[in-house]
Amino acid sequence: MERIDGHTRLCGLIGNPVEHTMSPVIHNTLAEKEGRNMVYVPFHVEQGQLASAVEGAYALNVLGLNVTVPYKGEVIGCLKETDAMAGQIGAVNTLVRTKGGYKGYNTDMMGLYRAMCAEGISLEGEEIIILGAGGAARAAAFLCASKKAAKVYLLNRTSGKAEQIAEEVNRAAGKAYPGKPCVCPMRMDEHGKIPSDRKYLAIQATSVGLYPNVEDAVLTDSDFYRKIHTGFDLIYRPSQTRFMAMVREQGGRAFHGLKMLLYQGVTAYELWNDTKIEEKDALAVYGKMKEEMGIDE
Ligand code: ATR
Repeated sequence: MERIDGHTRLCGLIGNPVEHTMSPVIHNTLAEKEGRNMVYVPFHVEQGQLASAVEGAYALNVLGLNVTVPYKGEVIGCLKETDAMAGQIGAVNTLVRTKGGYKGYNTDMMGLYRAMCAEGISLEGEEIIILGAGGAARAAAFLCASKKAAKVYLLNRTSGKAEQIAEEVNRAAGKAYPGKPCVCPMRMDEHGKIPSDRKYLAIQATSVGLYPNVEDAVLTDSDFYRKIHTGFDLIYRPSQTRFMAMVREQGGRAFHGLKMLLYQGVTAYELWNDTKIEEKDALAVYGKMKEEMGIDE
């Protein structure tokens, strides 16, 4: 980090809790690499204090903020403007300072896309299975539709939530690319209905398997995993989930979500500082994140 002086710009994270975040590693390392006079710190914001936190940050000339659980939806009401895709997803994780207030973006979704591109995974024209229908699955479904996936099977334990997301994504995507609906909602236990004459990319977007419940997977039926050529788990703690292990057992490639975390941060940093991070610098930050996690894969 540069020496803190009269020109130092401040960015940070608001959420509750924020104590286990890896974001300071990402942003302070990038600032150091670029020789940029910027520091990034976490802010623990209590329930009921979100609007004053955002307003106060703006008044303090804070350059940009990340937003995490539980405020990604609520923060939209505190902004001057919201990026169209973030508005559709209904979740904002990055606030960029503009004249008169902050503009909200969803760099989680952009980060997922960049992470997939970095692993050579494409979405255009693909048939994709998304497991889950919470906030993360919702962003993944919008991403797949916006990148013109051929078909998305959206599987969730509670089918009503999958139906709701499918309807919204199909409505939004239908306007942009008229044609047959892209997202097909299903109950998790109906996975056998997915045609087995081809293989799929599967995005694991449930919270099942997250530390400390590392032995759990939302599906444990090997028939399901035989249909998967690539499994992308949005979970990064642990770095090998049961879902990933089961994909590999059936011969597929599997990835954890740490690169998504990296690139959501890189994208936020680029928006705040109006810059473009070179891939080698992003990968150097990734090295630090892996060190922090004690993993080498
Ligand atoms: P996030 O914001 O991380 O997506 P979330 O919105 O709480 O988190 O969503 C969690 C997802 O994991 C949901 O799809 C949830 O399924 P339900 O909608 O049926 O609740 C899924 N999930 C959590 N625990 C589960 C379990 N034990 N079995 C199956 N699905 C589970």
